[in-house]
Amino acid sequence: MQEGIKNPAPWLRGLSARLLVLTAVFVMLSEVLIYVPSISLFRLTFLKDRIADAHLASLALKATPDNVVARPLEMELLANAMVRGIVLKRREARIMMLMEEMPPTVDAIYDLRGASAWRLIMDAFITLRQGQRTLRVWGDFPDKSEGSIEVIVDEAQLHAAMIDYSTNIMKLSLVISLITAGLVFLSLQLLMVAPMRRITASMVAFRKAPEDANAMIAESSRGDEIGTAQRELRQMQDDLRVALTQRVRLAALGEAVSKVNHDLRNILATAQLVSDRLGDVQDPTVRQVAPRLMQSIDRAINLCSQSLSFGRADEAPPNPVIVSLHELADDAVAYAGLPADGSIVWRNDVPDGLTLKADREQIFRVLMNLARNAIQAMSVGSGHGEGAGEITLTAKNGDAAIIMEFGDNGPGLPDKAREHLFEAFTGSARAGGTGLGLAIAKELVVAHGGELSLARSDDAGTVFRIVLPGQPG
Ligand SMILES: Nc1ncnc2c1ncn2[C@@H]1O[C@H](COP(=O)(O)OP(=O)(O)OP(=O)(O)O)[C@@H](O)[C@H]1O
Ligand SMILES: [Mg+2]
Repeated sequence: MQEGIKNPAPWLRGLSARLLVLTAVFVMLSEVLIYVPSISLFRLTFLKDRIADAHLASLALKATPDNVVARPLEMELLANAMVRGIVLKRREARIMMLMEEMPPTVDAIYDLRGASAWRLIMDAFITLRQGQRTLRVWGDFPDKSEGSIEVIVDEAQLHAAMIDYSTNIMKLSLVISLITAGLVFLSLQLLMVAPMRRITASMVAFRKAPEDANAMIAESSRGDEIGTAQRELRQMQDDLRVALTQRVRLAALGEAVSKVNHDLRNILATAQLVSDRLGDVQDPTVRQVAPRLMQSIDRAINLCSQSLSFGRADEAPPNPVIVSLHELADDAVAYAGLPADGSIVWRNDVPDGLTLKADREQIFRVLMNLARNAIQAMSVGSGHGEGAGEITLTAKNGDAAIIMEFGDNGPGLPDKAREHLFEAFTGSARAGGTGLGLAIAKELVVAHGGELSLARSDDAGTVFRIVLPGQPG
């Protein structure tokens, strides 16, 4: 899988590089949020300065007896105040004080007194967009009771100053965002990315060679999440190495046991053939012990066969084919060995047309094991109460799954079997039982993605439920 992933090193794909870009973007974004009110404040201050300068210029007029100055001085005063005209309005009287020779046509009028913040922001952006108008701006005298001042301003000057201011803010934002992003990048690199790389490198190395002690991650004393991840990974690697060593040993042991088992089964088969012949011997002592001998050999063969099939850890994966469940169940129950005396009745309630998509051989083994358990339970002692014993299989199509219920009217599960149901070797509560039947059956059903469970068990009988998903329709 790893080979499929292209070299993860290109720095732009790394976590810290993405965060670098994101931080730069976020800082720029916050700078924009700061810029909007600050540009409007910049404009307001610029215009208020013009009003203040105009007021100063008007003081020069006050000093003259008739409120008139020479033309060159008037032009100089206007230039100094960076306006084209100044009109003072003292109480109700409107006095034109200083003006260019040809009063310019005014394109827009702004009253700075009591303009809302929102209005000021909108006006700032209009100025940025237009930039070439002539504005008439109203403001107050420093002492409001004196009256108001009107100035005629060239928007071009204001526009140029605002563009200048914006460019500076832009440059500053860029520098701040690059510095912040760089610091975030470095700290992430040191605090997160480098340790994460060590963790992933250790995972990859460990996966390749779990037995290599050098592939294990170093101990960490960090108290944060990365430290916890590192310690947990180390613990997991420790446990896994122990489990793997154990598995290798168990596999070797299992292989040896299954070889012995296999040969033993053949030897026992020969013994079974010979013991069958004992049935013909007339000697009373032989006739007395022969059945017990044959029963013991049967049990021994059963133990060998069951352990062999359980030990097959490499049980082939299911090879699903379409099979008729009705027929399959008939075969399995017949194979499980219904008593010839008819004391147990087999009722196959599976609809004739119901088909199953599953591994025929494996589902056969599941049903056969369940059937054999039921038959064995009902054959012991009183087994089923009044009347004949009965084994039943029902099946119905659920949501793309087939649900089967395999039941009997036997004595129910003994307590010992209940405690370790489906556990290999420990689940048996039957003399001569190996406790593998249900464990194997469950394993086979689970291999199909399904579920084998105990639906109910009491003194009226036992029902196991099998759910097999992935069924057509
Ligand atoms: N239908 C049933 N009715 C009553 N008891 C049951 C039934 N099915 C299983 N059991 C009990 O559950 C135990 C476990 O069954 P399982 O098939 O796993 O092992 P086993 O039958 O003892 O041995 P093996 O099947 O390996 O020969 C049985 O020993 C039996 O006591
Ligand atoms: Mg069994």
